[in-house]
Amino acid sequence: MSITIRKFEHSDKEPVRNLLVHTESFTEAEVDVAIELVDLFLNNPNQKDYDLYTAVEGNEVLGYICIGPTPLTEGTYDLYWIAVSPVTQGKGVGKQLIKYAEETVKINNGRLLVAETSSQPKYQKTCDFYVSAGYEILSRIKEYYKVGDDLLVYGKYL
Ligand SMILES: CC(C)(COP(=O)(O)OP(=O)(O)OC[C@H]1O[C@@H](n2cnc3c(N)ncnc32)[C@H](O)[C@@H]1OP(=O)(O)O)[C@@H](O)C(=O)NCCC(=O)NCCS
Repeated sequence: MSITIRKFEHSDKEPVRNLLVHTESFTEAEVDVAIELVDLFLNNPNQKDYDLYTAVEGNEVLGYICIGPTPLTEGTYDLYWIAVSPVTQGKGVGKQLIKYAEETVKINNGRLLVAETSSQPKYQKTCDFYVSAGYEILSRIKEYYKVGDDLLVYGKYL
């Protein structure tokens, strides 16, 4: 695959909404929140809170990543969303997106990238992905989302 990673463009919005729905990893409310951030990014070219990048092959959108500086920190960044279309998963696109985001963070003097996820078994693949990309669990809050569902905070010092 010849993949390019570039700034998120207006024409990426609908393909990204589709892939978010089709990953079956996100609730309708979560997809709405992800798209709100897309709109915020696209409609406010001067904002500095969110940075979005798209992985494409030709005209096909394969995945995207959304990161941003964590408010009131010096050099900590949040990885808010990352998603790869289901048919493309497992082919290294997620890893390329996260590496690209890390380089961007470093260029901006960032030193820590943090990603929150849930301990539910359906997120195991996501956890494996973070570990394979060099992230470790920095903290865990038991029963954060609901009884039996902990918050896992993965992070990587860059
Ligand atoms: C998590 C996600 C972004 C990973 O992207 P991807 O393109 O599938 O991942 P890659 O192909 O780059 O895989 C990188 C590593 O992740 C792990 N991984 C990926 N797919 C996996 C699978 N199906 N099962 C187990 N591990 C897997 C592997 O350990 C792989 O490591 P390797 O390179 O040493 O083989 C993608 O699976 C996805 O969109 N999931 C649904 C959305 C989601 O959970 N997003 C995160 C929360 S916002």
